Amino acid sequence: MVLLDTYGRVATDLRVSLTDRCNLRCVYCMPEEGLQWLAKPDLLTDDEIVRLIRIAVTLLGVTEVRFTGGEPLLRPGLVSIVERSARLTPRPRMSLTTNGIGLKRTAGALKAAGLDRINVSLDTLRPEVFQRLTRRDRHQDVLDGLRAAREAGLTPVKVNTVLMPGLNDDEAPELLAWALAEGYELRFIEQMPLDAQHGWKREGMITAGDILNTLRARFTLTPEGGEERGSSPAERWLVDGGPHRVGVIGSVTRPFCAACDRTRLTADGQVRTCLFAQEETDLRAALRSDAPDEEIAGMWRAAMRGKKAGSGLDDPSFLQPSRPMSAIGG
Ligand code: GTP
Ligand code: 5AD
Ligand code: SF4
Repeated sequence: MVLLDTYGRVATDLRVSLTDRCNLRCVYCMPEEGLQWLAKPDLLTDDEIVRLIRIAVTLLGVTEVRFTGGEPLLRPGLVSIVERSARLTPRPRMSLTTNGIGLKRTAGALKAAGLDRINVSLDTLRPEVFQRLTRRDRHQDVLDGLRAAREAGLTPVKVNTVLMPGLNDDEAPELLAWALAEGYELRFIEQMPLDAQHGWKREGMITAGDILNTLRARFTLTPEGGEERGSSPAERWLVDGGPHRVGVIGSVTRPFCAACDRTRLTADGQVRTCLFAQEETDLRAALRSDAPDEEIAGMWRAAMRGKKAGSGLDDPSFLQPSRPMSAIGG
């Protein structure tokens, strides 16, 4: 029935990439000139996406759906996809990971369509650093988008921050103080080798340990502990006794693979079992050859049986997947 792998993990969390395009050019993600985007006919249509979500929810035990990109707000059908997914029985919980540009306009419609919560990427509070990190002058749009998400009730609003040496690594305490004041849950993310330029270097990475040391100079952090982490990639700490928290996503040095409950769908209809998987399973071809729901569900289950124990990042033979993060869906 469910999406069970050979290590006993069950995937109940589906991440759906709605487009590989983006309106920013974050240095840890893609080159200034952008990438060779997927061609329109290769993208799943809105109907195809909703059908796959229906199969996942009704036949495969998926309970959580997160929409990602590229930048998912660039997908014209986003609100309608959310709205149609919210009408499924059982209704999945739904969230969105976005860079926040344009969110000011759509936060209310997304909430009304049934979106539950939102994660927004923001690496800096300084407009000039934003320009250097994303190669675009859109800092205020992101801040406005965040506020709109909070006002629309897309809560908890989480903020994702990747720290880059020499760019924004000195900003961690400032960012946390700001997030606490604004009521956003901040998570610092270790940079992963998923950039299109293949420029990642382990030596250049700010680690979860580095981040915690820096924060401890200014804040008291108490591990949230217990079973709270669940399958979230973020480890969480109470700040100054709580109730506010900070998270650290240490995908490289503190991986959560043993508890991973994720399955992924790319914008061109390929199932991926992991961010770092080399293999993909083509559901688009099955959809377009009129395969019945049960057959597609069977292909999805078979794909998940191939999920590896971990990311393989520590293997000497580790190879970065050919699809970059922006086309996998984060
Ligand atoms: P929450 O449910 O709100 O905790 O969402 P999330 O943290 O899983 O999602 P989000 O899209 O905000 O991702 C935050 C960071 O976690 C990004 O850098 C993702 O690439 C990373 N991440 C998401 N899923 C995985 C995963 O399966 N493995 C690893 N290693 N990192 C992941
Ligand atoms: N390593 C870690 N996080 C990354 N993100 C994008 N590329 C990388 C990378 N190479 C982050 C974005 C966004 C989330 C989906 O993933 O900043 O917050
Ligand atoms: Fe766009 Fe996200 Fe990549 Fe930045 S990290 S360029 S916001 S897809």
